[in-house]
Amino acid sequence: MTPLDLKPHYSRFLKGHVNKLHFAAHSHHFWPDVTRDAHMEYWDDCAKSSDEKWNKIFSEVLPKTQEHIARILNLKHKNQIAFAPNTHELTARLLSLFVGRPQLSVLTTSSEFHSWRRQILRLKELPQVQLEVASTENFLTNRRELIDHLKNSLKKSPDIFFVSQVFFDSGLALTDDELLELCEAKSASTIMVVDGYHGFAAIPTDLSKLEGRIFYLGGGYKYAQAGEGVGFMVVPHGKWRPAYTGWFAEYAQLAKPAGAEVGYAEDGMAFMGATQDASGFYRFNAAWDLFEKLGLTVSKIHQYIQGLQSTFLTAFPESFAYEKGLNPLFKDLHWHGHFLTFEALSEESGQNIQNELKSLGILIDRRGKRLRFGFGLYQDKTDVLGLCERLKTLAVKTK
Ligand SMILES: Cc1ncc(COP(=O)(O)O)c(C=O)c1O
Repeated sequence: MTPLDLKPHYSRFLKGHVNKLHFAAHSHHFWPDVTRDAHMEYWDDCAKSSDEKWNKIFSEVLPKTQEHIARILNLKHKNQIAFAPNTHELTARLLSLFVGRPQLSVLTTSSEFHSWRRQILRLKELPQVQLEVASTENFLTNRRELIDHLKNSLKKSPDIFFVSQVFFDSGLALTDDELLELCEAKSASTIMVVDGYHGFAAIPTDLSKLEGRIFYLGGGYKYAQAGEGVGFMVVPHGKWRPAYTGWFAEYAQLAKPAGAEVGYAEDGMAFMGATQDASGFYRFNAAWDLFEKLGLTVSKIHQYIQGLQSTFLTAFPESFAYEKGLNPLFKDLHWHGHFLTFEALSEESGQNIQNELKSLGILIDRRGKRLRFGFGLYQDKTDVLGLCERLKTLAVKTK
């Protein structure tokens, strides 16, 4: 593969991080420069059109975002994609489908993102809510164990089955085939939700076999490089009537007199909420227009990141991991998220290591005792080798 030279497209963020090695692309990917012009275009559209800007947003901007997402995920029905400022809001709308029902049963895993974990644990305080959490602890060494556990629990027909495509606390990922296997194991009444935030625009994902059968969540501030404000959800066809609903869910009917019935759009828009800052969609479109122009598909992106990851592993000073008591939580990089996770001996030790790295200008992030090194398109081999050199000095220093 010829090396990609994408750095010139990230000149502003790189200028903001001079002398820093930002290896937290999985947390906040740098945005390409074109997103700045797009951001300004949003401002100019507001100035030009005030209230009428919504016409452009609904007729041009959002459809274009839907097109990009549908292309990235290989979906046929772009109108089945709903938006919100974040994914938490979309999960709240999903949960609101069950308002008024006597019971809600949820099957999920121990590696789900904080917003979902908090939300569902809080709801579990209600006597009507039953929760089963399948442990992901052995997933690295025995992925069948988790899949079989989930398949077994799906026999109980939970109302909602919520699982990540890429687990945020390790980077380990379910394959498209494994997701399909899980989907085929569920009963028709179970709503399956895949949190694709760490998979979308990172791992080449083909949802064609799952389209219409699962909900898929993703958003803009990681690998999609659009920043905040772009949560999305791929919605199966259906007459959805979430109880938590806002005026966007019936945008097409606005000019008509309000009826007694609460109407909903007949596509994914049924899950829309209300007024939100739309600048993120402008940024998203600008980034993905650029990548399309450059012929940069998610497969190529993934290949590039895998290249950086393997450079990292080749040059990685084992002495650093040994000195710090770090345990790698990855094995097969062919199908893995864009960050590599090491587990420290304790949370305190993890925090100390993160601080030491920071003092050397290395920016990574941490979840509990797990340190995450994330790779992005604005890095090249030299950055990765530079990272390993700095890690080497740290191992020597502590001897
Ligand atoms: C797995 C996963 N899901 C979802 C999100 C985003 O959640 P929200 O859009 O609700 O902030 C993140 C963000 O870090 C995440 O890691």
